[in-house]
Amino acid sequence: MQRVKNFNAGPAALPRVVLERAHTEWFDFAGSGISVLETSHRHKAYEALQEDAAARIGALYNLPASHTVLFLQGGASSMFATLPLNALGGGRAARYIVTGTWGEKAAKEAAIVAKLLHEPAPIVATTKQATGWAYDRVPSHGAFEGVEGAAYVHVTTNETVDGVQYASNGASSLPPVHAPLVADMSSDFLSRPVPLGAYACAYAGAQKNAGPSGVTLVVVEKAWAEACRKDIPIIFQFRTAIEHRSLYNTPPTLGIYLVREVLRWVADAGGLPAMEQLAERKAARLYDAVAQSHGFYTCPVSEAARSRMNVVFRLPNEELETAFLTGGETLGMLGLKGHRVVGGIRASLYNAVEEGWVQELVEYMNDFRAKQGH
Ligand SMILES: Cc1ncc(COP(=O)(O)O)c(C=O)c1O
Repeated sequence: MQRVKNFNAGPAALPRVVLERAHTEWFDFAGSGISVLETSHRHKAYEALQEDAAARIGALYNLPASHTVLFLQGGASSMFATLPLNALGGGRAARYIVTGTWGEKAAKEAAIVAKLLHEPAPIVATTKQATGWAYDRVPSHGAFEGVEGAAYVHVTTNETVDGVQYASNGASSLPPVHAPLVADMSSDFLSRPVPLGAYACAYAGAQKNAGPSGVTLVVVEKAWAEACRKDIPIIFQFRTAIEHRSLYNTPPTLGIYLVREVLRWVADAGGLPAMEQLAERKAARLYDAVAQSHGFYTCPVSEAARSRMNVVFRLPNEELETAFLTGGETLGMLGLKGHRVVGGIRASLYNAVEEGWVQELVEYMNDFRAKQGH
């Protein structure tokens, strides 16, 4: 079987070894004689699997004992609502630093919840540009000043649609934030080391770097969660998931099984530093191809904020972009179409995207450009 070169933004490529192992164990999970699909979430073998997955995330990130890992459902989008439901209170507004399409959605949801709870509306700072590529940068560190007293500060570490990411260090990284820091890390979770102990909460839909859709990964500071609201439905309170070790109700067991396999793969491959180096190598190849194209390919994102996970670029016109996508598909390159809101080309380079695929994409880009006489 020929595997396509999968550049999808999510659900996205999974490591082949993970799929193979799931295939091998399909009828017999942990020697139990039944599939994990058929196993009770109260079964010891399943509980051990889920504990192991949580412990592996903790180990990869060197998570301090003050924090814990939760497996929730509803995707990152449901966190857009459950976060303010939990964390707004006492008349304190939340701050949203919006650097892209997903942050915009998160802030919108928070405004609805704030109204519902009779709490102040979130204060939104956005980098949105009036013309051209709407989100092309991260803010300067100054944008994070004066946040003391905020309910929390929300950021999106990697904007999947727009191709904008905070750097790991330097002027385009996140500065220390003097309020509870909450991050949507959906599309760069597990892609680089991050001091998660400095975050009140970090969350991610699993379907990019961590596994299949259906699992929402949440890392939360236990004391912060305990101080959150108690007058919202029990199922939505972070403390409920903490108290019940994400087993208050039936978790997405198959998804968590696959997440655990991905976590094994990440550890075997050298952990988060290795994932970061891999991402840097792959992204550098693509951005170099853009830079060396004499303006045929252009990246609309400012250099310091270019994502290592979702590389966006444009061709001289939309007809050429369509031809580029069609040609790519005939070569088995899938998922290169930019998000419908912004257009253009987007290559998602999550952990399981192989370096060889990126090399083939670069070769195709060079061939395509040459054929246009560039
Ligand atoms: C950064 C980011 N946040 C939130 C979402 C929404 O995630 P979900 O579909 O899991 O709700 C996505 C999905 O692509 C995303 O990339």
